[in-house]
Parts: sequence; C-alpha cells; structure tokens
Amino acid sequence: MKKTLIKNGTLVTAADTFQADLLIVDGRIAAIGSALPAEGADTVDAAGLYVLPGGIDVHTHLALPFGGTVSSDDFYTGHKAAAFGGTTFHIDFAMQVKGESLHSAVERWNAKASDKAVIDYGYHVGVTDLNEAVLAEIPTLATEGIPSLKLFLAYKNNLQVDDATFFKVLLQAGDNGMLTMVHAENGDVIDILVKDALAKGRLTPEWHALTRPDWAEGEATHRAAAMAAMAGAPLYVVHVTCAKAVDAIAAARAAGQPVMGETCVQYFHFSIDNLRQPDGAKWVCSPPVRTAADQVALWQAVRANHLQHVSTDHCPFFMDGTKDLIYEGQPVRIAGKELGAGDFSKVPNGVPAIENRMPMLWATGVNTGKISLNRLVELCCTNPARIFGLYPQKGTLAVGADADVVLWDPKANHVFSAATHHMRTDYDIYEGWAAPAMPVKVFRRGELLVDGAEWHGRPGSGRWTPRKAHGEVL
Ligand code: URP
Ligand code: ZN
Ligand code: ZN
Repeated sequence: MKKTLIKNGTLVTAADTFQADLLIVDGRIAAIGSALPAEGADTVDAAGLYVLPGGIDVHTHLALPFGGTVSSDDFYTGHKAAAFGGTTFHIDFAMQVKGESLHSAVERWNAKASDKAVIDYGYHVGVTDLNEAVLAEIPTLATEGIPSLKLFLAYKNNLQVDDATFFKVLLQAGDNGMLTMVHAENGDVIDILVKDALAKGRLTPEWHALTRPDWAEGEATHRAAAMAAMAGAPLYVVHVTCAKAVDAIAAARAAGQPVMGETCVQYFHFSIDNLRQPDGAKWVCSPPVRTAADQVALWQAVRANHLQHVSTDHCPFFMDGTKDLIYEGQPVRIAGKELGAGDFSKVPNGVPAIENRMPMLWATGVNTGKISLNRLVELCCTNPARIFGLYPQKGTLAVGADADVVLWDPKANHVFSAATHHMRTDYDIYEGWAAPAMPVKVFRRGELLVDGAEWHGRPGSGRWTPRKAHGEVL
C-alpha cells in the first residue's frame, strides 16, 4: 500500500478554501481532515502552499498532422509540459480522415498515445466525413467512453463540414447523451476573404486576423446554437474569442438552451497587435487573437458563466523548423511557422499554451481580482470534469477521487521562457511574462510527476480514461 500525506496545506476547490491535510492511498484521495495520522506515509509539508485538484484541459492537439506539418508536442512532451503547468488530465481530438471510420481514428490516436502518455487523457472524435455507417458508429463511441464529438464550420476543403452534416450529428449525439462541440467560424466567407487578400498582395500575419473577422465567428456561433435548438441537443462552442460569439452563447443560454463554451488562455492576453510584430506568425491561430475590447468581454464571460472552461487549444509548432531544438538532450526538427514565410495563409495554425494556462490565469485573473482562486479551480478543473463526464473521479479534491493533486507556491516568481519551458517548441508566446504562482509538486493518481524542477514522469504510465455520457450542463 502506497501512502502520501500532504500536511498543512490550504486546500482549494471550486466551492471552498480551507486548511487541511490530505491523505493519498494507492492513487486515490483517502481522507481530508485535520491532523491526519502520518503512519506509514511519505509526508509532504505544504505549509504556505495551495493544494488544488489537477488541471483538466479539454482542448489539445498533440501530434496532429496539420498545416503541412505536425504539431510538435507528442503525448510524452505535451504531457510533461502539461504537468509542469499543473494540468494532469486532457482530452485530445482523434481526427477522422476522409473515408475513415471513427473507430479507426481512435485506434490511430491510441497508437500515438499509449506508449508515451504520462498524465491521464481521453479523446473527443473529430467528424470530418459523415455517411450512414459513420452516423451509426456515433452511439457506440458513447458506450465506449467517448461521449463527445467535434465538428468544424471552418477550414474549407479540409476539416469543414456543411450545415446538413452538422445538423445530423447534433441529432444523433443528442439522442445518445453525447455532447457536440463546434469550431464556429464561417469557413465559406473566410475562404473568399483569404483569396481576395492574397490576390491584393496582403500577405503578412495580421491578414490572418483581418480575413477571419469577428462577424465570421459571431455568425457561425449563432448558427450553431440555432441548429442545436432545432435538434434539441446540447452544444459546446470551442475557443471563443470575441464579444460577438459570447453574445450568441449568452442569448442561447438566456433562452434556456443547453449551450456552453470555453475560451483559451491566450485570448485574454494577445491581440492583432501581436500579429503585426515581425514575429507575428507565433500568434497565428484560429479563430485569431482579436482586440482589447474582446479581451474585456472574455473576462466578463468567464465571470458571468457564459463560458464555463478555460482551455488552451494547445497546437504548437516551431517558429523556425529548419533548425534543431534540443529536447531532453536529443535534437528535434519539425517544420513549423516558417512554412508561411511571405504568405499568412500557409502559416500552420496554432499556439503552444498547455504549460502556461493555469499559471497565467492565476497571474492575470486571480492576482488582479478578475476571478477568485475558487473560480480558477472551477474553470480549469471542476467544470470540465462535470461537462465531459469525469466528475467526481477527476476535477476536485474529494475522498474517493483520483489523487490528481497539485501543490502551488503563490510566491514562485517564475518567468516563462522557451529556454526553460517543457513544451517542445522553440518559442513561448508568454516569453518574459511573470508567473507569481507555479506548481511545485504535481501528483497524478498519487504518483509524483513533478518535484520542483525535477521530472519523474514515466512514459506509458498515463491512462486513457473512459468518460460517462450525459455530462452535466452548467
Ligand atoms: O489554430 C488552431 N486553433 N489550430 C488547431 C485547430 C483548431 O482549429 O482547433
Ligand atoms: Zn478549432
Ligand atoms: Zn483546436
């Protein structure tokens, strides 16, 4: 029997903040209380530290073939980075390729993940090619522990589906207790705007944002919510970036619809001004980083519960994939943002953020009084567990839950840098940003993965974790 006793910490859940000891036995939380007996346990003194549930990030793309290359974190490097940022569970997208069954997509993702995983994980399935056989597969996914699907209304001629496909999936998912997720941008309009910009010689990264206006996101979000209403199905809008999309979600919710959404940490902090920098390609992601006014709207949306989760859409690429990066002593070279030098439309879309998410939300949300520490736990740990069928196994500190537990030092004085981060990419969008609160010990099912600067994670020790259908609507 393996026992760890975390003593004298300040425990933080979505609902409470209190002083207590926390006892872990064989990977689960066995007791929470005062003066718990230390007999037979490894003891950790957490005086002065906050004890939080492990973070959950429901939007990541590890080893995703995309934009003419592949996202540069795999299920080992991405998990290591996640753990150093306080995240102990994530849900990746197993993406169907044209002509493929959904189960085949899951098998391909298993092949990428199982030998490498360190934190626990699950999948959503990304539907890109619907036919009767694929439609019939959908309910079986739910019974097999994958109760969520994702569709793209953007990326024309690639991942984009038409409204009929989206509507059929909403109906089928709704009938089977599954949640439909949507990338909501109007891909048809964007395609025309991009071609027009290129024809006029508008090639710099700022045109990535100017050809993907907030109207395209607001319209698609409204359309997706309207279709969910007609299907009588719940909807989850991924990576919301702007006031227009927040307004569409808030209106649907005010009308009583089960519509939920997330934003990603980077959308609070970066804007089209970053795309205008010489190294603007670093921030090319879709939907694009927007304006200061949209950032204000996003903070308001997470406070007002129009949005229930803060994820990352972690989809890293090298800035200069023509050069080696040394990762754990080995040279790695993966084509990246340089593919779009001289043409914004060819820059691989995506940013690294899995390690930054919770520290930066703490620094800029909690430490500025925009959200409470309890709300941070709710947004980053508890709500995603409830919505995506993991609660109470994960997402909270409770007796019987998996011991995914993170000790945070609120006086850490960390500064993010590509020189020291653990994401496998040559840049950090938060280069030079201070993170006053950082994880100092990270446990996944009771196993110590991160101990200060030390890494103890074992590839293959992370578990694919089945999730329940009929997740909560928050
Ligand atoms: O730019 C992004 N977001 N890349 C990943 C794919 C997606 O749209 O989520
Ligand atoms: Zn997307
Ligand atoms: Zn994504």
